[in-house]
Amino acid sequence: MENRQTNFFKSKDFIDDIKQIKKEIEIDTFEKIENQKDLNLGLYGWYSICPSKELKKNKPFYFSLFDEPLLLYRDENKKVRCIKNICPHRGASFYGCSITNGEITCPYHGARFSSEGNCQNLNRITCTHIVDNNYDNYAKRIHLSQYKTLEKNNYIYVYFSRYSQTDLNIIKEEHSIINHELINNGFPEKDYAYEEVLIDFRCDWSRIIENHLDILHIFWVHGDTIPDKDVNKDVLVSFNQKIEINKKYIESIYFYKSDPKKEFIRIKYIPPGRILIYKGNPANCRYVQVLDHIPLGHNKARVIVRHYRKFLKNKFLINLLLFKETQKKIFYKIFNEDYMILKTQTYNHKSGLIKKDDIKLLGEDRMINYFWKWYKKSEDKDQPWKFNKINNNLNVYDEIILKYPPEVKRFEVINNLNIIRKTCIRYVAPLLFLMLII
Ligand code: FES
Ligand SMILES: [Fe+2]
Repeated sequence: MENRQTNFFKSKDFIDDIKQIKKEIEIDTFEKIENQKDLNLGLYGWYSICPSKELKKNKPFYFSLFDEPLLLYRDENKKVRCIKNICPHRGASFYGCSITNGEITCPYHGARFSSEGNCQNLNRITCTHIVDNNYDNYAKRIHLSQYKTLEKNNYIYVYFSRYSQTDLNIIKEEHSIINHELINNGFPEKDYAYEEVLIDFRCDWSRIIENHLDILHIFWVHGDTIPDKDVNKDVLVSFNQKIEINKKYIESIYFYKSDPKKEFIRIKYIPPGRILIYKGNPANCRYVQVLDHIPLGHNKARVIVRHYRKFLKNKFLINLLLFKETQKKIFYKIFNEDYMILKTQTYNHKSGLIKKDDIKLLGEDRMINYFWKWYKKSEDKDQPWKFNKINNNLNVYDEIILKYPPEVKRFEVINNLNIIRKTCIRYVAPLLFLMLII
């Protein structure tokens, strides 16, 4: 008996098992986290703020980053400007402003600003003779403060840096936009069509990113909604992961443990706010989901979801099948499924109800662990919450900024009505007509 036991402990199977367990313990204790020092992007950088089509002619687009109220508009050259939503005269918001020929006029005393940010009518806010005596001083102080912007692939990006500036040349871009672009991540961008939705959550930005890096909840929370036979509530899976971390991104490829050659999905996190979800080699990928996360503020975040596909590109067919509308309906449903979880998780976190020991990050959560380590390090380094005196009871900007589902249902209701209306026009009405003539 003793001999058999000794032989067993020396057997190849046993040694392999031990090796495997050792490897898994290493993974679970995240000893390899030092690699993360390679990820050198922080919280300052390019954020995709909205699709180009959201920014209408002569209309401001209000938003915020880390609770700093901001707005976008197009100047006289159609270039996008991102300015602080605080008038440099007496600190009013530009809410209710007018924009004419690319010049913005404050609703309080009517100060009008050129695209460069100079006040064009100082005599509107002080007596002419005072302006004449000290013009340079006024012109310098009453000047818009801006962040850098960029418009590419129908996205409007803002470069969030430590401070907005009256002179944009002062802002140094530490990170290039090319990290974010599909083409530079190996996807032949021009081969795709896409649908997109915008999502507003009253919860923490980092919690949404965590949710999108969380592979297991997909089966449980979204199992009934995601149209994939391999994803449903009854499926119990575990994965082997191949993780790559470098200066620009963290990527994990998930392979089924039961079938190690079979890939389930790839998740690529490109700081600060972009996640790509896809399967297989990017060059041949039929489908890629691009998720942009916008840290509007404490307990307030937006996601732009864009689904790129290489199939179903025919406009007539898309229209006939109500593809846009039904896709939107699915997206809204998926985010509704997450919403209460994220809200309560944020509450529990911010109220100090989740102790460190209560969090169990297990094997499948390696990406999440890497993300949190990066986030905490970046938050300490960049200090993006410059406005920590924000009074959440005075959340006047929430009313201005938040407008998308699931927080504000309007667009979801409109989409549902559109589905009913178009279904009637396309299918029910012709059918009734046919029945009548028969
Ligand atoms: S506060 Fe804007 S013009 Fe006075
Ligand atoms: Fe989710």
